[in-house]
Amino acid sequence: MTKDLDRRRIEPELLDILPADDPRAIGSRRDLVWINALMFQSAIMSGLLKANVRKTPTRILELGSGDGAFMLSVARRFARSWTDVDLVLLDQVNLISDKRRADFAALGWRVETVTDDVFDWIAKPGAGAYDVVSANLFLHHFSDADLKVLFAALRSLAPVFLATEPSRNASALRMCSLLRVIGANEVTMHDAAASVRAGFAGNELSSLWPSDSSQQCVERRIGPFTHAFSVIPKEALPRCTTPLS
Ligand SMILES: C[S@@+](CC[C@H](N)C(=O)[O-])C[C@H]1O[C@@H](n2cnc3c(N)ncnc32)[C@H](O)[C@@H]1O
Repeated sequence: MTKDLDRRRIEPELLDILPADDPRAIGSRRDLVWINALMFQSAIMSGLLKANVRKTPTRILELGSGDGAFMLSVARRFARSWTDVDLVLLDQVNLISDKRRADFAALGWRVETVTDDVFDWIAKPGAGAYDVVSANLFLHHFSDADLKVLFAALRSLAPVFLATEPSRNASALRMCSLLRVIGANEVTMHDAAASVRAGFAGNELSSLWPSDSSQQCVERRIGPFTHAFSVIPKEALPRCTTPLS
């Protein structure tokens, strides 16, 4: 890892600052669909779900769900097996369209949206109970101190927590400059590089999960761009250590 990438560097992402209806933000959310595809994020998250969730989940919470496109692509991979799911999509901006809800409904997934800052939300009572909590390209927005607070709250929400985040490494950072090839706009170009610099390596996320938890953490890089983090019940470890194909 180059020295520049030795430590996480967190800087504001433009997509979080721009109004949701700003054409640059709309363009960048479109780019995000391509970026998730190039990173194989949906396939990786589906692999983590298959490996770590023993029974069909009935309640899933996704943190930082954006416009729901990512979770829909995951849901489609479970179209035949998970057909009766309550999905809670939490984001600070409500971007879930009626069309998106209908696409989930066609799979048997009922969508509820929560529009709130995640830290305000976890501080309130009544967060509910889930079979799985997941996050894609979300945790890297936050400092280690904030992640500790978040993880302390998440441990009691669900037995399983899964996250697919940017891997902080030199080749991922180099690839960001090539995103112009897919026509990425200025917002995406900025945020992609910022995300890699704020991404994760080694066991950084595991070290922030509460040590007295009855769960355990498995964390690793998958492919050139993704840092995967799984938190599972302790007795489930043997399944979880099986490498994903
Ligand atoms: C990079 S986008 C990823 C969106 C989606 N997971 C995907 O893969 O397409 C990060 C999302 O996190 C949301 N977000 C950032 N900070 C947040 C916070 N403090 N509370 C709730 N949502 C937040 C943003 O609004 C944005 O939709």
